[in-house]
Order: sequence, then structure tokens, then C-alpha cells
Amino acid sequence: MNLRKTLEERLGAALAAAGAPGSPAVVKPAARAQFGDYQANGVMGAAKTLKTNPRQLAEKVLAAARLDDLAEKVEPAGPGFLNITLSRMFLETQLAVAACDERLAADTPASRTVVVDYSGPNLAKEMHVGHLRSTIIGDALARILEFLGHRVVRQNHVGDWGTQFGMLIAHLEQALSRDPSGGQADTELSDLEEFYRKAKQQFDNDADFADASRAEVVKLQGGDASSLDSWRRFREVSLRHCEQVYDRLGVRLGSADVRGESYYNDYLPQVLEALGAKGLLSESQGAQCVFLDEFQGKDGEPLPVIVRKSDGGFLYATTDLAALWFRAGRGRADGLVDWQADRILYVTDSRQELHFRQVFAVARRAGFVSEGVSLEHVGFGMMLGADGKPFKTRTGGTVKLMDMLGEAEARAFELVTLKSPELPEPQRREIARAVGIGAVKYADLSQNRATDYVFSWDKMLSLEGNTAPYMQYAYARIRSIFRKGEGIADCGLRNEEFSLGEPAERALAVKLLQFPETLESAAAECLPNLLCQYLYELAGAFMGFYENCPVLKAEGETRASRLALCELTARTIQKSLDLLGIETLEQM
Ligand code: ARG
Repeated sequence: MNLRKTLEERLGAALAAAGAPGSPAVVKPAARAQFGDYQANGVMGAAKTLKTNPRQLAEKVLAAARLDDLAEKVEPAGPGFLNITLSRMFLETQLAVAACDERLAADTPASRTVVVDYSGPNLAKEMHVGHLRSTIIGDALARILEFLGHRVVRQNHVGDWGTQFGMLIAHLEQALSRDPSGGQADTELSDLEEFYRKAKQQFDNDADFADASRAEVVKLQGGDASSLDSWRRFREVSLRHCEQVYDRLGVRLGSADVRGESYYNDYLPQVLEALGAKGLLSESQGAQCVFLDEFQGKDGEPLPVIVRKSDGGFLYATTDLAALWFRAGRGRADGLVDWQADRILYVTDSRQELHFRQVFAVARRAGFVSEGVSLEHVGFGMMLGADGKPFKTRTGGTVKLMDMLGEAEARAFELVTLKSPELPEPQRREIARAVGIGAVKYADLSQNRATDYVFSWDKMLSLEGNTAPYMQYAYARIRSIFRKGEGIADCGLRNEEFSLGEPAERALAVKLLQFPETLESAAAECLPNLLCQYLYELAGAFMGFYENCPVLKAEGETRASRLALCELTARTIQKSLDLLGIETLEQM
């Protein structure tokens, strides 16, 4: 059960009964424990609209509120707040419901089809840290949405088309002409970064090669068989590389999720036709543009969305417009409708904000997307080095993802060895893998995505603070209670009697029961950091409980209830980390 929403609904009804229909109750977790568990702040706003005394309205709302089954105390406070304290009985019953439920009592909101567009690297080069945030944030959002019961369509909109491929194909064909068996080409492709560097160097220094590259682009676009072959060869190698990165990161993006820019290429002329038919196209300096009033430059001059360049080439925006047909188009007779999405999320860095605003506006104006479909750019800030500048290698190069993940594991291995030298090496390696990768992911996910964040190995690998190792360690510690305690069956799902006699037990219970509302907020706002923040608070509540309430030394029903609290906490941590794409370990 989503507690916050339930209170919001009940108090909303009470507000309506008190003469303020449609006023939101604005329920939030209480700022301080002495105010109870939740507070409702909506009365003041409603009183303002009604031009009435907020304190009096609060009394009326209180009289109309039906909260007997949930709360033991509801009190007006200050200028018109309502403080709500949940009842012990209610908490105990709800815990039992969560304990017996594999989904930890999370509701299933009305299921919608959600497309999550994430990762989307450009295939010309190896994946670097610039792709990390989109890949990690997008994957966490997809997992959370899926868990909430939505139909999630993952889309990897890779950059696999465009002029830079001419240069790469020309370079590849050189290798193939030197060694027709393809052996040399394969060797060169095994280091994509180096391959790109060499091709670019040749392009910059060799006019004949540059001409050949440009000719390749034309051949490729004209559907020339041998160009397409080389292009496919390059694309395959590059995609395999991405898949290795996804595997290593534990990111659930497979080859079936790849639909790159090339996929939409054939439909771009139709996009232009459709825009033209709606009277949206105008020519400006030889280019085809859409001008919309809401987009203006600094001096108020109209800002065009260019959909076809004067040389006939299409643009990034044109491709995204075509992709919207497939994702959200409704009722088209030509088959360009795949998913009929209700909601589409684009996880890219914030610098693409204008691009998406423009694409969304044009798509709506052109009728490609109906009104009920939510189009959302899930933007994020930059990853910075300790110097506050964009994250780079010591020598100023871009950091390859594979190298960075290798370093994460190596550093974690040192730590694990320091902490648990007695464990056999293969086990330490396994722990280091989960901790290292988990640390990198959690460091990113725990930040509000809108802001830039400073990448710091020491911080993310610390066993203290809001970090993956801290959460993984908290989990392993709870699991160790079950190893130590004799005669405790590893309970699994069971109907336990909970008994919340101590304040620390109660505080832990409230946190445990806030899992569903946390997930729903994270999904609605596309903010995985809300789940991290929740985890951190949950771990804190658990520590408070564990320090104040003996578990194995307790007896009878108290012992059983406390063990059940431990178990539910462990499962909630594990599920939350899993939804963030992070592994847990039984022992660390
Ligand atoms: N390839 C793009 C980039 O590297 C990201 C693609 C995002 N998705 C989209 N539908 N435009 O910036």
C-alpha cells in the first residue's frame, strides 16, 4: 500500500466534505518524529482559496476525516497543518502484508506502456564515460517501471548512421583490400578507439582519402551493396563491444533493444512529406525548416527546427521525429506503429534539452503524437573530476568505460582484501566485482540527476555514508544474523506476527512501509536518487533498531518479531538495490 497516497486520498475526501473539493491534501512524511509520521499541508492553500480561517478549516477537515483504521492521532498544528501518527495495529498488520508479499506490498498502478530510450552511444567510437550516466539511470528507471507493473520497451537509439561512417568504411575497405580474408580488418577493429583515431588522422591529412570517404557516404546512402557490407561489419563489431560493457555493468540492454538511427532512415522522406502536408515546412537558406512561435533566439528572432539541410542530408531531429511514429503513433494505416506508448522517456544529458523540446513540439503540432502521450526528456548533468572540470584521464583523454570499470574492481579488491583477508581469493574477486561496479552505479544514481557531480573513488568506495558498499554491507550484516542464530529457519515468505513495542522498532516499521510510495515517486519523477535516499534512511533506521533492540538474545514472540523485522529489512534492501541494478552478497 502506498501510505502517502492513501492519506492523500482520505484527506482529500475530508477537504471536499469540509467545503474545499479538489484541493490537494499535500501529504508528506513528517519533518520531525515529534510531529508524528506524516503531515498534511494542504489546508492552508485551501483556506486561502476559500478565504476562510485555516485553523478552523483544519478542525472541520479533522472532523470529516475517516482515518480510524490507520491513525491513532491526527492533530492540527501551527497555522493549519495536520500531524498524523499511524497506529501500532495498522503498522503491525501492514508489515505482515509486506512480509508475505514478494513485491513487498508495492501496488500495481494502472499499467501503461513506457518506452525508455537510454544509452544510445554513437557506434563510431568505443563507449566512454559520457555514456555511463544515460546507461545507468535509464536502466534503473526501466527496472523500477517494470517492477511497478508497466510494460516497458527499452530502446537503444544508437548513432549508427551519418557522415562519420564514410571515413570508417573507407578505412575498413583499405584493410580489406590488403587482406581480402578479413583477418587484418578484424584485428584493426578489435581496438575501435585506435581504429577511429587512425581513420580520422588519415581523413585530416590525406585529401584523396577524404574524397574517398565522402564518396562512401554517398554510396552508402544510395544502398551500394559493398558499402553496406562494410558498414554492417563495423556496426556489428561496435555493438558487440557495447554489449560487453552492458554485461559487465549488469545493464539489461540486449540486441533486440537496438533500433538505431539507420533503422529510421527510409522513413525520413515521409516525415518531411507529413510535415509539408500539415503546412509546417518552410525553406530557409536552402534548408527545410519548421518554425514554431515558442522557439526564439536571444534577440527574439525565430529559431528554426531544421529537418533537412541544403545539401539534402537529414538531421538528428528528423530521425527522432520518425522514431516517434513507431513509438507513439496511433491509428496510422501504414504499419509505422509499434508500441502505442503512453509515456516516452529520453535519458540524455541536459545539453540536449532544447533538441527534445523542439522535437516534441513539432511532433505534437504535426499530429505524430496524440495529446495523452507523455513525452519527457530525462536530462542529467555532467560527471566532473576532482578539479571540477569534465572527468578525464590524467593526460586529458576521454576515459574508456571498460578501463574505468576495471579500475573500480581493482580498487574494490584491495579494500576487500584489507577487510577480509581470510576469504579465499575467488570469493574476494567476486565480492570486489559486485562492490566495484555497484559503487560506480550507486555514486551516479544517488545524485539528483539534474546536477553535475564529482566523481571520487574514495567517496564511492567508502563503507560510510550513502554508498553502495555501505548498503551492501548492511545487507550482508543482517544476513549474518541468520547465520549466527541457531535454529532459525531461513524464513522466506511467511506470515509473521509483528509486535512493535519499542520506538526504534516502530521507526523501522514506518520506513519499511514507505517502500511503495518511494518507488512510485521515483518512477513519476524519473529520480532514482529518491530510492537511494530511502535506502540510506532505511539503513539508518535499522542501525537504530539493532543498537537498541537485542534480536538473538530476545525471547519468544519478541525474538520472532525482531527476526522478522530483520528479514523484511534485508529483503527491502536487496530489492531496492536490485531495482538500481546493484548486486547484493550474502557475505562480505
Ligand atoms: N546518440 C545520441 C548521443 O550520443 C543519443 C541518442 C538519444 N536518443 C534519441 N532518441 N535521440 O547523444
